[in-house]
Amino acid sequence: MIISSTDTTSLRSPILIMAERAALIRAQGRDVIDLTLGEPDFNAPPHVLEAAHAALEGRLTYSPSNGIEPLRYAIRMRMKAIRNLDYSDDQVAVGCGAKQIIYNAFQATLKQGDEVIVPAPYWASYPTMIKMCGARPLMVPTTLEAGYCLTAEALDAALRVARSPKWVILNAPGNPSGSLYSSQQLSDIAEVLRRYPGVMVLSDDIYSEIRYTDDVYQTLAAVAPDLTHRILIVDGVSKVYAMTGWRVGWGCGPTPLITAINSVQSQSCTQTSTLSQVAAVAALTGPQTLVKERNAIYRQRRDAALNVFEACEAIDVACPEGAFYLLPRIRTIKDDQAFALTLLEVGVATVPGSAFGMPGHLRLSFALDESVLIEGCERLVQKIKASA
Ligand SMILES: Cc1ncc(COP(=O)(O)O)c(C=O)c1O
Repeated sequence: MIISSTDTTSLRSPILIMAERAALIRAQGRDVIDLTLGEPDFNAPPHVLEAAHAALEGRLTYSPSNGIEPLRYAIRMRMKAIRNLDYSDDQVAVGCGAKQIIYNAFQATLKQGDEVIVPAPYWASYPTMIKMCGARPLMVPTTLEAGYCLTAEALDAALRVARSPKWVILNAPGNPSGSLYSSQQLSDIAEVLRRYPGVMVLSDDIYSEIRYTDDVYQTLAAVAPDLTHRILIVDGVSKVYAMTGWRVGWGCGPTPLITAINSVQSQSCTQTSTLSQVAAVAALTGPQTLVKERNAIYRQRRDAALNVFEACEAIDVACPEGAFYLLPRIRTIKDDQAFALTLLEVGVATVPGSAFGMPGHLRLSFALDESVLIEGCERLVQKIKASA
């Protein structure tokens, strides 16, 4: 695909643009609290670092494109443990983060004119990746009142008007909503999907283990096993183990799709780093206590931020059940992009909701120190009150 210079500008991540602006302001010696980035503020667990150090003693050679065998095995065991799903070895692809698996899947399956159903709010990279493959994202709005979940009715309406639908994206806990689907909601969605046999589902479960409920994690493949051959589950170590920079993610799905994803992988970057793969095995197979401890910390931060927002009538905000983002809707603002820029002047960086298909909202990450987070939220509330 040929991209014009204008397109190249629009392909830049709005999240990174705001983070860069915040960094620039900080470099000028001004104080700014950065609530933009979707990255844990912890490090990888100690046993992961030890495994990586030990691996450095040996030779780090090319690995198979679909990852080292112990990693594929650990992923399959994780799929069984968390979702009660069985995958064979040829149904697992390993890539440079969940992002690359998603990109490879679209690259392998989409052609000019195809369509992908994208419920809004959405992770800002989905529409861009879809367009990079010559296809078209079809946004389906959801509402705060409906918990930002795609309803079966809205999905059906979108599929009815679509001319060449290839994928539906489901992301839970969602970025930026933090919403989860109940098994009933997923059953209703499955019922619709059964009427459209040519449509695949991208189940982006990257935040599946950062949740604030004790309920069993619900994913479409577990709720509707008859659809498993049409579902690609995507997950990785970035968020749950605070390993964003290690670049390990995976996809589990039907063998022909996984084979195609592996082909794109082998002809682009060959594999993700062998060292990172060894570290990912340690993350998946080692002690999991840190995951729970960190989730308790995130939860406390979430509640502290919500507590600040409670005092502001102009803010409507859902309580996220997972991930580490808040998506406040600000009743008094007309233009969320302009408002995010004025917020920078009072020392708080956020991402305008438009970047996620949610004008009138802002996205805030709560993956940062609680007292700094509270200060950032208070600055936001003060600015809203001052602008009213
Ligand atoms: C919803 C969602 N999917 C996928 C990714 C990509 O994660 P990774 O670091 O594994 O590429 C992100 C990262 O922010 C995300 O928010």
